[in-house]
Formats: sequence, structure tokens, C-alpha cells
Amino acid sequence: MKKNFPLLLLTAAAFSLSAAAADVFINTPKTTLMLTANNGSTPRIHYYGSRISPAQRQEVIDAMSINYDAYPAFGRDSYDETALSVTHADGNMSTELTITGTRTEDELTIISMKDKKYDFFVDLYYKSNDKSDVIETWTVIRNGEKKPIRLEQYASGVMTLRQEGAWITHFHGAWAQEAQMTEEPLVQGLKTIVNHDGVRNGMNDHAEVMISLDGKPQENSGRVIGAALCWTGNYKLRLETRGHYRHTLIAGIDDLHTAYTLKPGESFETPKLALAYSTEGKGGVSRAFHRWGRAGQLHNGRALREILLNSWEGVYMNVNQEVCEKMMDGIKELGGELFVVDDGWFGRKYRRTNDSQSLGDWVTDTEKLPNGVPALVKAAEDRGLKFGIWIEPEMTNSKSELYEAHPDWVVAHPTRELAMGRGGTQLVLDMSNPKVQDFVVGIVDNLVKENPTLHYIKWDCNMSMNNFGSSYLTADRQSHLFVDYHLGLRSALERIRKSHPDLVIQLCASGGGRVNWGFMPYFDEFWCSDNTDALQRLYIQWGTSHFYPTMAMAQHVSASPNHQTGRIIPLKFRFDVAMTGRLGMEMKPSDLNEKELDYAKKAVAFYKEIRPIVQLGDQYRLLSPYEGNGHCSEMFVSEDKSDAVFFCYKFEHFVGLQTPRWHMAGLDPDATYQLNEFGSTERSHYFEGKTFSGRFLMETGIDAYLSGMFSSRVIRLKKV
Ligand code: GLA
Repeated sequence: MKKNFPLLLLTAAAFSLSAAAADVFINTPKTTLMLTANNGSTPRIHYYGSRISPAQRQEVIDAMSINYDAYPAFGRDSYDETALSVTHADGNMSTELTITGTRTEDELTIISMKDKKYDFFVDLYYKSNDKSDVIETWTVIRNGEKKPIRLEQYASGVMTLRQEGAWITHFHGAWAQEAQMTEEPLVQGLKTIVNHDGVRNGMNDHAEVMISLDGKPQENSGRVIGAALCWTGNYKLRLETRGHYRHTLIAGIDDLHTAYTLKPGESFETPKLALAYSTEGKGGVSRAFHRWGRAGQLHNGRALREILLNSWEGVYMNVNQEVCEKMMDGIKELGGELFVVDDGWFGRKYRRTNDSQSLGDWVTDTEKLPNGVPALVKAAEDRGLKFGIWIEPEMTNSKSELYEAHPDWVVAHPTRELAMGRGGTQLVLDMSNPKVQDFVVGIVDNLVKENPTLHYIKWDCNMSMNNFGSSYLTADRQSHLFVDYHLGLRSALERIRKSHPDLVIQLCASGGGRVNWGFMPYFDEFWCSDNTDALQRLYIQWGTSHFYPTMAMAQHVSASPNHQTGRIIPLKFRFDVAMTGRLGMEMKPSDLNEKELDYAKKAVAFYKEIRPIVQLGDQYRLLSPYEGNGHCSEMFVSEDKSDAVFFCYKFEHFVGLQTPRWHMAGLDPDATYQLNEFGSTERSHYFEGKTFSGRFLMETGIDAYLSGMFSSRVIRLKKV
């Protein structure tokens, strides 16, 4: 058995629980989830916290552990929220599960349960992890009955704790204002975080919460549990707070309009619920999720991301060979590595000159690009750049050759008048239909076939499921649509990844409308927001980084005045905000004056130096923009703590506003670090070459003054 793999211990009768007590310890390097799984009983959660040894199980029990059902089913003693609700073949709506056995397979612990009276089975999975402090849980539900059964509610997993004064941190938003953070005390009652969009499940609330056990959430201290539901479609997170400060989180696919029929012998695997526990505050939970991403949950999580120029805010849909080449020249001169042509390059009968037509017709608009996409690829490569392209594969417009040929491919009920999306004509393709899945896979295959060196795809998605109904699903399975759409999408993404493992694919949904861990195994990065205003980005990126690694967060420097807010912000501040993730640009470089061009070149060169620390290191959020009185800061530290980079920002200005004392985090307290500052501000070189101990920088901190509105500083630290 490998180190850190879960331990399943069959304990002796001497222990108080039962004669055949089976204790389950799901371990990560620093944490343990302890359950009991006694045959004939229900699985019970007893402990989730810092790592303990099996010898400590009695301590847990003697302390009056919480002892809560790990997968409560509806129908017997089910007065609290339940994870599972089933209508059995004979119409019985009650379920009573008991354990029939528990086994471990490598990193997995599987607790098998069966209904006491029916041939209905649930396997409860837990996956331990020896690379990061994230535990995954999900279920596989199987119908062994003689006739179809109906799953009414089928959550992924449950976490429970008991603590007075706990707080919740969660994220919500809308277009151009994604991942806004709210923190509030957990009070008696039911808190529900839900998404009904059908397609873009990060568009409003995020399927993630943090629960801080030591009062008001702190960035780098206190006990915190983080939970993320990894699913691409509608979800529901319920957090029920009852007497004795008991908080129970149940997370899964949304149970509204999603009843799912299983024929005899069929089974259903629920999406994963990922959990992390840390004693190092919210930041500790974030870093656990970031490491989990880099270790495999994010596609290609170990590779450095390229610096790119995206054409969207530069020219919108007015792309052509000449303007693209000019932008390529610009990003090449600045030191960039990749050019991405966004929307506007396609359409034959209906040309993509505006957003009311052409989606689905993935052929080059030869009026704009007479020599097709290959000529763009060649132009990029002639300049030593890689090339990427925008598509929106799951969508069509009623004005498109695709829709004319396949009106039955869109999500809608044939009896209803269509509700249209963007441009007054946009429609969603029915991903539950295998023919549509083949079509979507074919879009990518064809692009790669025509352009074998294609490096990058921006996969966009700009509409909700405004219509409900499927021409593909049978009448008795219409309620599968919200789920089967996403199983179909997942299957298409799996096929694409199998054939094109090295293609870099960006996830976009009108900005950050699909930020969910369920997508990340197929995507290298995501577009955080269509809002590129550096001030609003501080908030959006702060929120997003709570669960997502900054290497996956696409952050672009755009024009000033900003196109979304009209705000004027100096180029240094815009770069300093964008440099905390995957840096890119989204403007015409030719709009920069000579001084700015010179600065941008230096900034790109500096980013290349710090890129491994920002993209592969640990992130420490320090002073929050939500509380920092017009200031905020964060830093990145390499895994071996030899290299770090610190960012601080000022975004309010009035007489008497004090610059805070900046305290760092994550450094080696006993090491000495030499400081260098990047970029020109009036005091920029004050710290040049000065040395401090890690302990001093973290405990006493430094006074790095920020003077005017939108001033920022970036300090590089190297262990000497
Ligand atoms: C969405 C995306 C943008 C851009 C446009 C193109 O809004 O979020 O970044 O790609 O579509 O139409």
C-alpha cells in the first residue's frame, strides 16, 4: 500500500461502535477524513481535519464526534436535507440504504450500500490524494430492480461539521462582474447556492464555498474547509445549519427538472465533490486546490502558459489578413508568443459581420481572409509566433447554413416558438444528440486537419438554455436534458482531448461564465471576464483565485480608456494587475505610443522572468481589495521558497489615505531574501538590492509607499 493511501481498518469488537466496526481513514499529506462503515449500518462521518493516525480514532469517538450520515436517503428518518431520493419500480418513494461491504482499490475507498428491501445499489467513493490536500467524493447508483426507477435527487456528496461562529465565503456575479466575493456568518436555516442556466454554470453563482471555522474568514490563518462541485451543468449546493451549530453541506447536480430514469441494470455516476481542509486560512484551501489543479485536475497543469495577443478588443469582428498581420507584428515586437484571432473570421452564405448570424458555419469568410486560415497561421509562423482561433462550437444562429440544414439539432421543444439569445438569433445545439456531438468534435478535427500546427483554441459559449426540450430525447426522457446535454458535451471533450492532447484550449463563456472544476480536465485556461478594466479585474481575479490556479486565469492588458467602463488607468497598473495570472494583451499594440511600447516590452520581459513563480508557485493573497481601504496585495512563492514576487496596488485616493504596512507570507522565515523592484515609480528603486529575512518580511513587513491613484509596485524576492 502506497504512503498516504486510505487506510481501511477493521477494528476489533473492543471498540465501542459495533462488533464489526470498520473505520475508514481518507488521508492526504496534511488531512484526514474519518468515517465508520459498519456492515448493516449507514456510513457515518466522524472527523474532517488535520491528519490523524488510526490510533486516534478513539479520541474522535470519545470527543462525541459529529457522527452524521455520509449519504442520507429520503424516506426513513429523513427530516433533514437528503442526498438521494428515488422512486422505485413499484412506486415506493422511500429508500433505506445499509452497507454491504467496504473495499480499497489504490487511492479509492468504496463503501457499497444496498436498499434493505430492493435491488437498488449505491457505491460511495472517496479518493485520497498524496499530492495535495484535496479529497474527492462521488457515488455510483445502480438499478438492479426489474423495472425502471426514477432518481429524483442524486447528490455527489456530503460534508458535515459542528462549530459555533462559522462563516461562509461564496462567489456570485454576472456578465463582466464575475466571482464577486461575499462572506457572512452561517445562521440557522438553509443556504442554497444554485445554477439553473443549463449551459453556463458559472454565470451567476460559483459551485464552490469555503467554511471558516474560526469566525470571520482570514486569508492565512484559521481552520477552513473548501468544497467545489466539479460539474459542467446545473448544480445545487445546500448548506443546512441546525441546532448545536451543526452545518451540513450537500452538493450535487441540481434536483429541479432533472429526474433521471434508470432502466434495469443501468447505473449513474454522479460528478465529484472536491473537499479541502486547511489550518492556514482561506489561502491554505486555495493553495490545496491550486496544487490539485497543477497535479492533474487542470489540463496540462505543469506546462507554462504562453503570452498572447487576442484580437477581440483590438478590432472586434473586423478581422482581415492585413489587420491581423499588423497585430502580429505588434505582439512580436513586445515579446509575445502567440496570436489568437477571435470572433469574425468565418461564415460563407451568412458572413460573421455581426453577432446575429453564422455560428455553426465554421468555414473561412473569404472576403475577409481570401487565403483562409492557413494564410493566418503562416503569417504568425513567419514571425515566430504560434497561432490560435476562436470558435463557439455548441451554438448556432437561426441565420446559418447549419440551422437551415438541421433545425432539429437545437435545444427546444418543437411545439414552441424559439426564444433567441445573443444577436436576437442565437440558439443552443442539443449536445445530448450523438450527431451533434460528432459535429462538434468535427469542428476541432477539421480545423486541425486544415492547420496541423494550430496551437490554441478559444472555446466560447454565449447563451443560456433559453428553450427547454430535445428532439433527440424521447418523450419520457425530456427531464434528462439538463444532464444529458453535459454528458454529451463531456464525451465530445474527451474525444477531442484524446485526438488533440497538446492543443491549448481556453474555456470562455461570455467571460468567466463557465468557471467550474468540472471543465478543467479538458481546458488549459479560462477567460476570467469580458471586463478588462484593471480596477474591476482586481476584484474578479481575487474572487476567482480562491479556487482556481492563477496559471489558468487569462488576464489581458487592454486599451485605456477601457472599453467596458471608460476608465483611464496607467499602463503600469494595467500590466501589474494582468501579471498575476496568465498574461496576455487584448488591444492593437499600434495604439500604444513609443514610451508605452517601450514600457510594455520591459513588462513582457519581466513577466517571462517571474512566469514560473506566478504560474507554478504558491499564491498568497494578502490584503484584500474588499477590505484594504483602497489597497490590496498578493504574492507568489516558488515551491522551494527560493523565489517570490510581491504585488501591491492602490486604487483609491484622498488626502490622508495611508499606505498600509505590507506583510508578506509563504516565505522561508530563516532565509534571507534580496529585493528588486520592477517598473518605474518615483520610489521604484528604493528596495534595490536590500536584504531581509523571511521572518522580518512576514512579521514586521515593509513600508512600500504608494502615492497616486492607480499606483502599484512589483517586488521580486530571491533567496541569497
Ligand atoms: C464573448 C467572449 C469575448 C469574445 C466575444 C466574441 O463575449 O467572452 O471574449 O470572444 O464573445 O463574440
